[in-house]
Amino acid sequence: MVNKKVLAICFTQTGQLGEIIDNFTRPLTAAGISVENIRIKPVKDYPFPWTGERFYDVMPDAVLGVPVPLAPFLLKETAYDLIILGYQSWFLSPSIPANSLLQDPSFKTVLKGTPVVTITGARNMWLNAFVGIKKLLRDSGADHVGNIALVDRHWNPVSYFTIFHWMLGGKKTKLLNIFPLPGVSDADIAGTNKFGETLLTHLLNGEWNGLQDALEKQNAVAYNYHLMILEAKAGSKYIAWANKVNRSKNRAGSLVVFKYFLHIALFIGAPVILIVDAIFIKPFSSKKIKELKQYYLGLK
Ligand SMILES: Cc1cc2nc3c(=O)[nH]c(=O)nc-3n(C[C@H](O)[C@H](O)[C@H](O)COP(=O)(O)O)c2cc1C
Repeated sequence: MVNKKVLAICFTQTGQLGEIIDNFTRPLTAAGISVENIRIKPVKDYPFPWTGERFYDVMPDAVLGVPVPLAPFLLKETAYDLIILGYQSWFLSPSIPANSLLQDPSFKTVLKGTPVVTITGARNMWLNAFVGIKKLLRDSGADHVGNIALVDRHWNPVSYFTIFHWMLGGKKTKLLNIFPLPGVSDADIAGTNKFGETLLTHLLNGEWNGLQDALEKQNAVAYNYHLMILEAKAGSKYIAWANKVNRSKNRAGSLVVFKYFLHIALFIGAPVILIVDAIFIKPFSSKKIKELKQYYLGLK
């Protein structure tokens, strides 16, 4: 038995993130490290599958970072050598359960001074959520040493349809039998094993420098320039929408309008933004793009 204390903690609604973490931590358990696995749940859990109405209804609280009470969970230790924190992106923000965990006073005490590796399984827009997670980790005094991001690799409009088929239908199956499977692919989930091998080396050496570089060399972090540009534009719009819905006297009606805004943003707004960017901005902004990439992907 290797004497390292590792906690792997996340919320997972469909089980996808849980499966990712299980594969990722397998090399650690194979090396004799006992990994304490905790799946958190809100007291009032989000029923799955979603209805369209409930799905959009969580947008304001997700975007504005409003926490919910979590069902009590007991940790075996008061301090860990490493915490593996799983989170998902909900409306370009940390999911409400992940955000609630990071605002939990007793969990914040455990995070303080502890090396943390974050891991997500998103549709494909996880960057703004990651910025939120980084801020919450910083606020707790955690030592953020690594990050892994897995996504659905299909074309953005395609995964937009297929994720709704999954979230509202409840099954990770092919929409109409012709679309690709939604979510992170089985091969990518299984592939997290190799990131776990890299993590193991650093954990055993107690040396976190170089971990993120090594993970990035293994393509552990899904990055797409076009999606980064879209997320950079969308962040403030979502905050404005969240406030607008909260102020509205007709919440359900405002959320329907938000839903149509999203459709228009994806199918009309996004191509326009990307064409303008390709012609007028990208060719002249290499320094700015580098800074934006660092803002989104950097750990510190
Ligand atoms: C309410 C809601 C909003 C979501 N918004 C996003 C998003 O903005 N970007 C993204 O990449 N994925 C988004 N997803 C997909 C999740 O990040 C995640 O991949 C999916 O819910 C499966 O996670 P699980 O492990 O909890 O089952 C959303 C999912 C839900 C339920």
